[in-house]
Amino acid sequence: MTMLLAGEDTTAYTLGWAVHQLCGSPESMMELRREADELLGTSDVAGDIETANKLAWAGAVANETMRLRPVAPIHFLDAKVETVVGDLLVPKGTRVCLLTRPAACDPGHFVDPQTFRPRRWLDENAGAHDVSAYIPFGSGPRICPGRVLALLEMKLLLSMLYKNFNVERVGGAEGVRENFALTMSPVGLKVRLRRRSSALADTGTA
Ligand code: HEM
Repeated sequence: MTMLLAGEDTTAYTLGWAVHQLCGSPESMMELRREADELLGTSDVAGDIETANKLAWAGAVANETMRLRPVAPIHFLDAKVETVVGDLLVPKGTRVCLLTRPAACDPGHFVDPQTFRPRRWLDENAGAHDVSAYIPFGSGPRICPGRVLALLEMKLLLSMLYKNFNVERVGGAEGVRENFALTMSPVGLKVRLRRRSSALADTGTA
């Protein structure tokens, strides 16, 4: 049950957020598509793990989405030992609620932090890039055990979706809200999928 609850919505909501972010970033969408066209060839989806491992742009889109739209934005922790965080003493046994987004959106950790820029995960010279300030899957002994699977699923889905479909937003971006109910999902996100081949011939929607 834990695997089901922890693994399904988290991955699906992150994909929803990725679609939302990509609607506002045509350049990122085109890079994602270029990579999928190049690596998937005539297949609709990456057919083996070697191909999936090469989907760097799709992975960067997933990482950048989780930086700006973490589906688990609050982590509940216990201090196992007395700890000092900045100028704050945290005694052993203290319950800690940690907000993860402030550190991931701090300009000291990530350059131009409010901008959706997947390229920052691929370009070593992109400016401030402190991955220790980015913990969408938690950290330490209770780090999410499904993180590798989640990233693989997201890379497969994103490359398949953007290789085969044109994804257009229906309505405005301002209609999309963050709904927090333990996990944070997009509410009000509407898109239209149009098959790329049909889109080229302008013959229909799916
Ligand atoms: C984008 C997708 C996902 C995100 C953002 C995510 C995030 C998280 C976070 C933040 C935690 C708590 C870590 C901590 O306490 O430090 C967690 C725990 C967990 N996750 Fe994930 N997760 C994702 C996908 C998955 C998948 C695909 C599975 C399994 C199929 C999974 C299974 C689990 C389990 C079993 C735990 C509890 C681990 C424990 O308590 O020791 N998660 N996840």
